[in-house]
Amino acid sequence: DQPLRLGIAGLGTVGIGVVKIVQRHAEMLAMRAGRPVEITAICARDRKKNRDADLSGFAWEDDAVALATREDVDVFVELIGGDQGPAKDATEAAIRAGKDVVTANKALLAHHGQALAELAEAEGRVIRYEAAVAGGIPVIKALTEGLAGNGIRRVMGVMNGTCNYILTRMEDAGLPYDTVFEEARQLGYLEADPQLDVGGIDAGHKLAILSAIAFGTQVSFSTVTLEGIGRISIDDIRRAGDMGYKIKLLGVAQMTRRGLEQRMTPCLVPASSPLGQLTGGTNMVVLEGDAVGQIVLRGAGAGEGPTASAVMGDVMDIARGLRLPTFGQPATSLTQVTPAMAPAP
Ligand code: NAP
Ligand code: HSE
Repeated sequence: DQPLRLGIAGLGTVGIGVVKIVQRHAEMLAMRAGRPVEITAICARDRKKNRDADLSGFAWEDDAVALATREDVDVFVELIGGDQGPAKDATEAAIRAGKDVVTANKALLAHHGQALAELAEAEGRVIRYEAAVAGGIPVIKALTEGLAGNGIRRVMGVMNGTCNYILTRMEDAGLPYDTVFEEARQLGYLEADPQLDVGGIDAGHKLAILSAIAFGTQVSFSTVTLEGIGRISIDDIRRAGDMGYKIKLLGVAQMTRRGLEQRMTPCLVPASSPLGQLTGGTNMVVLEGDAVGQIVLRGAGAGEGPTASAVMGDVMDIARGLRLPTFGQPATSLTQVTPAMAPAP
C-alpha cells in the first residue's frame, strides 16, 4: 500500500511529540490506517538545534513553503504557530500544491479559518485541526462526527490551561496574581506573549473555532467578548469561595434570538460542578446537543504528548481516507455571524 508521507514544519514541543509517536508506533499506525504513515521531510528555524528525537532519516528544508510543496509530501503538518508569516504562507502553498493540511494553530484558524477552508474546498483538499482546541481532548471530532445529528444548543468550557493553573494556584496557596503569574512564567507555562493566555485571547481563538462548527457560522474571532484574568484578586477568589463558587475563565457560545453570543470571560461557577472542580492546567469542554443532552469532555489541553496525540488523530483520519470538510460542512455554506447585541438597559 502507498505510504502516507508527512512533511512536518515546526520541531518544538508539538512537532517533536509527533515525530516520537510516528517513530514509536510505526507498526500500529500502519495496521490501523491500512498503510504506512511516514515522515519524509522536516523543517524548523535552526537546523543545528539539539532536539530530543532522532531526525537523521528525514530530509531537511530551511523554508516551510519549500517543505509544504515537496513532491514527496502528501500531508503538510503545520506546527510553527502564529496567524501570519510562515505558518500561513506555507499552509496556503501546501493546499495550492495539492496537499492536505494538519495544524495545531488556533490563531491561524481563528483569523483565517474561513479563507483557508474555502481555498481547501476549491482545491479538493482537507484541513484538520483537532489539536488547535483543547489539546488532547477530541472535541472537534465530537462536534463534527459524533454529534453530527444534533442541533447544538451551547458550547462552553475552560480552554486555557495556563489561566486555570493560575486561578487554581491563587485559590489553593492564597497567593496574589502577580506571584502566581511569575511562577507560571518560571514553569514555562506562558506563551511567548503571555497576554495571549491571561488576556483570554488564546481561549477566545478556540471558542471562535468551536462556534463555527457548532452553529454553522463563519469563524468570527472579532465578535468574541474577551476579558482576561489579570484583574482577578485574591479577595475576589475568597469571596467567591465563601458563597460556594469558583472563578474560572469560561468560554460560552450560544445562538440567541439576537444572534451568536460568544464570550470568554471570568465567571463564577458552582464549586461542586464539574467546571468548579477542574484544577491545574486541565481543560474541560461542555457540549449541549438537542438529542444527546449534555456531554462533558475533560483532559490535558496542552503539552507534547496530548497535543501530538490530537495531531496524529487527524493524520490517521487522512491516512484512512476520511475527508470531512474543514468545519464539518462546506465552508461556502457557513453563514455570516450576527453578533448578539447587548440587551437594552
Ligand atoms: P514551539 O515549541 O515554539 O515550536 C515552534 C517550532 O516552529 C520550532 O521548532 C521553531 O523552530 C519552528 N519555527 C519557527 N519559525 C519558523 C519558520 N519561520 N520556519 C520554520 N519553522 C519555524 O511551539 P509549540 O508549542 O510546539 O506549538 C506549535 C503549534 O501548536 C502552535 O500553533 C501552538 O499554538 C500549537 N499548540 C501548542 C500546544 C502546546 O502545548 N505546546 C498545544 C496546543 C496547540 P526552532 O526550533 O528552530 O526555533
Ligand atoms: N497556552 C495554551 C494553554 C496552550 O495554556 O492552554 C495550549 O493551547
